[in-house]
Amino acid sequence: MDIKDKVVIVTGASSGIGAAAALEFGREGAKVVLAARRFERLQAVAHEIELMNTGAQALVVRTDISKFEDIERLVNQTLAAFGRIDVLVNNAGFGRLDWLEKLDPMEDIKGLMDVNVMGLIQTTRQVLPVMIRQRSGSIINMCSISGLVGTPTYTIYSASKHAVHGFSEALRREVEPWGIHVSLLYPGGVKTEFAQRAGIKRKTNASTPNFMVLTAEQVGKAVVKLVRHPRRMWIMPWLWGFTVSLNRFLPGLVDRMTINTFTLPERADEITNRN
Ligand SMILES: NC(=O)c1ccc[n+]([C@@H]2O[C@H](COP(=O)([O-])OP(=O)(O)OC[C@H]3O[C@@H](n4cnc5c(N)ncnc54)[C@H](OP(=O)(O)O)[C@@H]3O)[C@@H](O)[C@H]2O)c1
Repeated sequence: MDIKDKVVIVTGASSGIGAAAALEFGREGAKVVLAARRFERLQAVAHEIELMNTGAQALVVRTDISKFEDIERLVNQTLAAFGRIDVLVNNAGFGRLDWLEKLDPMEDIKGLMDVNVMGLIQTTRQVLPVMIRQRSGSIINMCSISGLVGTPTYTIYSASKHAVHGFSEALRREVEPWGIHVSLLYPGGVKTEFAQRAGIKRKTNASTPNFMVLTAEQVGKAVVKLVRHPRRMWIMPWLWGFTVSLNRFLPGLVDRMTINTFTLPERADEITNRN
């Protein structure tokens, strides 16, 4: 798909990967619709796009993706402004990383599922009739390595991204006859505001090695590439593919490695202190 003049909705475009992808679409001369809750941050991204001199246009729609009426407004305002929707980037999402019993049932569990899963499904559901009418479209869903491999403290986040994986695989097989492509991106660690919001508390220094950490710009560029060349799955960086394969074919070994090197050292105090 040639991206110039295409109408692209990017959810979660106020920071991180979404903002980087929106700017990348702007560089290609697209009509970019920016959706998220932080209006001023969206306006700043829109301003940068309009200064690009590529013929790109930007429309800001304040959207809480967990609210159905906001999703409806996002789709209606896009159609009113541009008359069609060529690309949907379902990127809005967040993580709350802690032991399951310590997560807040409403904010950290229901709230996360409402954004990462229900928001993504409902946005796709609202955009789909437009793409079916057009007999064309591209849907890029932001998954994660956590959508393929479960890690302690990532229970709810991992459940949400496994849901994105399953939803997208089924959808891809539903909509292909209408010329609609569904692509999935599985990044590992990306340097964004994600970590701040996730509230990671580690006793050990366990984290993704620096050489495996991506920038938002690298992932933003990958999103645009997926519009040109749709792919069922793109694991970033590719080295994570080894972990995914090990987890699939030798899950018992991965259990032992994870529990011994992460769970036991992280929970040592709690395990010895029974009060
Ligand atoms: N960073 C990583 O290591 C990593 C790795 C793999 C996958 N991912 C995925 O990449 C996506 C983007 O995350 P990021 O790393 O770029 O983090 P980020 O900088 O925190 O961006 C998250 C985006 O999601 C939006 N968002 C959150 N709740 C929302 C809601 N209720 N309604 C609308 N928008 C909402 C935020 O906008 P507002 O707060 O303005 O609403 C923000 O634009 C997420 O789906 C995340 O799960 C991240």
